[in-house]
Amino acid sequence: MSRWRTSPAHPGWPVPVGPIRMPGGMVGLRPVRLRDGPQWSRLRLADREHLEPWEPSSEATWEMRHALSSWPTVCSGLRGEARRGRMLPLVIEVDGQFAGQITIGNITHGALRSAWIGYWVARQFTGGGVATGALALGLDHAFGPVMLHRVEATVRPENAPSRAVLARTGFREEGLLKRYLDVDGAWRDHLLVAITVEEVQGSVAAALVRSGRASWT
Ligand code: ACO
Repeated sequence: MSRWRTSPAHPGWPVPVGPIRMPGGMVGLRPVRLRDGPQWSRLRLADREHLEPWEPSSEATWEMRHALSSWPTVCSGLRGEARRGRMLPLVIEVDGQFAGQITIGNITHGALRSAWIGYWVARQFTGGGVATGALALGLDHAFGPVMLHRVEATVRPENAPSRAVLARTGFREEGLLKRYLDVDGAWRDHLLVAITVEEVQGSVAAALVRSGRASWT
C-alpha cells in the first residue's frame, strides 16, 4: 500500500509527482516541508537578481523575507492552504536536490475546476529543461489526480524564458492584463495564458518524451 494517503477534499495532495529525465537531470515534484528551510533560504538569498524582477513586490526587504527564520511561517502558511484544499505547494527537485518551487494555487472544484500555476528555478539549475519538466509534471498532476479542467498562468511579456516554458508545455495566450500586478516595485502588464484538459493529448510529460526533449529513465 502507498505511504501517501490523499484527502477526498483535496485529491492529489500530499503526493510526489514524477520523475522525468530532462537534460539538466531527473526532475521530480514533492510537497514542501519544514526541513527545506536551509536550501530555500540559501538559494533565494543568492538568486535575488535572477528572481526579483518577476516576483510580487513586498514591504519587507528581500533579506528579511528569505531569512532562514522566515521559512517555518512561509511553509506552514503554504501547508495550511494545502490542507484546506486550496493549494498544492511543491518543491522542484533535480537529482534529489532542492532546485526551486512550483505552486498550483486558488484551486476551485465544482463547475469551475480551475487553478493558477507559478514556479521558479534556482539559477544554478536553469537552462536544462528543469522548469519545462516540472511544469509538464504539474499539469499532468492537475489534470489527473487533482481533476482540474483548466490551469492558467500570468507572465510578464519581458520574461522570455518563462514564456518559452509555457509555450513548450502547451499554454495558449488569452490576453494582456494591463497593470495587473505590483512586481519589482511597479504595476506591470502580464500576459494571461491558459490550457484546458481537452488541449492535452494524453499527457504533457509523455508529449515531451515523444518529442525527444525528455525521457522516463
Ligand atoms: N530569450 C528567449 N528564450 C530564452 C531565453 C531568452 N533570453 N533564455 C532562455 N530561453 C529559453 C530556453 O531556450 C528554453 O526554451 P526551449 O526549451 O524552447 O529551448 C526556455 O527558455 C527555458 O526552459 P527551461 O530550461 O525548461 O527553463 P529553466 O529551468 O531554465 O527555468 C525559469 C526557467 C523558471 C523562467 C527560470 O529562469 C526562473 O526561475 N526565472 C526567475 C523566476 C521566474 O521568472 N519565474 C516564472 C514566473 S512566471 C510564472 O510563474 C507563470
